[in-house]
Amino acid sequence: PQQPLLAGVNVVITAGPTQEAIDPVRYISNHSSGKMGFSLANAALSMGANVTVIAGPVNLSLAADIKRIDVKSARDMHQAALASLDTADIFIACAAVADYRTETVHSEKMKKQADTDVITLTLVKNPDIIADVANAENRPFCVGFAAETNDIEAYALGKLARKNLDLIAANDVSNSAQGFNSDNNALTVFAKDKRFDIPLCNKKEVAIQLLKIISEQYKSIS
Ligand code: C5P
Repeated sequence: PQQPLLAGVNVVITAGPTQEAIDPVRYISNHSSGKMGFSLANAALSMGANVTVIAGPVNLSLAADIKRIDVKSARDMHQAALASLDTADIFIACAAVADYRTETVHSEKMKKQADTDVITLTLVKNPDIIADVANAENRPFCVGFAAETNDIEAYALGKLARKNLDLIAANDVSNSAQGFNSDNNALTVFAKDKRFDIPLCNKKEVAIQLLKIISEQYKSIS
């Protein structure tokens, strides 16, 4: 019998949004559902991989054989990602990481101000998780995502180079039939000198097709 495509390969996937606390009851986040990352995790398992998911706050379940590390903030996700590098062969960054966090997290609930209608939150940049993984000494095969509304190819190729990735999967989020929170997606996957198209279909099928491309490219360089 044929070996499954990812037999024995250690795959780490970040998924979902991050939450950046403002105070004990408030946070900054985004509408990522985690569906694409979780579909990739379940598909990778079915293809024989050892799968770890580093998940922001999402309401989804995973197959019992998948190792799940739950995190909230980008900095927690960053730390878990770097800790996974000892064993990771393939790292897929599917999470919608908050670009900024609040400079200070108030330890008590912030009170409404009686004397002013305007208050200011200062935001500071979060670490770029996939870029740090891709530049680590013991670097796994690195796959990123690029959600774009325009000039998809140019922006995706820019991110591929800037973040030192092996592959980038780009999707058009100006189209509400795909991407963020939808059950469906369509992707264009770019390597430095190759491109692959995955037409619009449900995220489970997209996940299988993307993992086939990833495993082919991973095997061609390792
Ligand atoms: O630069 P941009 O956020 O569009 O890049 C998206 C890709 O980078 C995704 O793969 C996302 O998971 C990853 N990313 C990350 N850490 C960040 C921001 C984005 O890993 N702080």
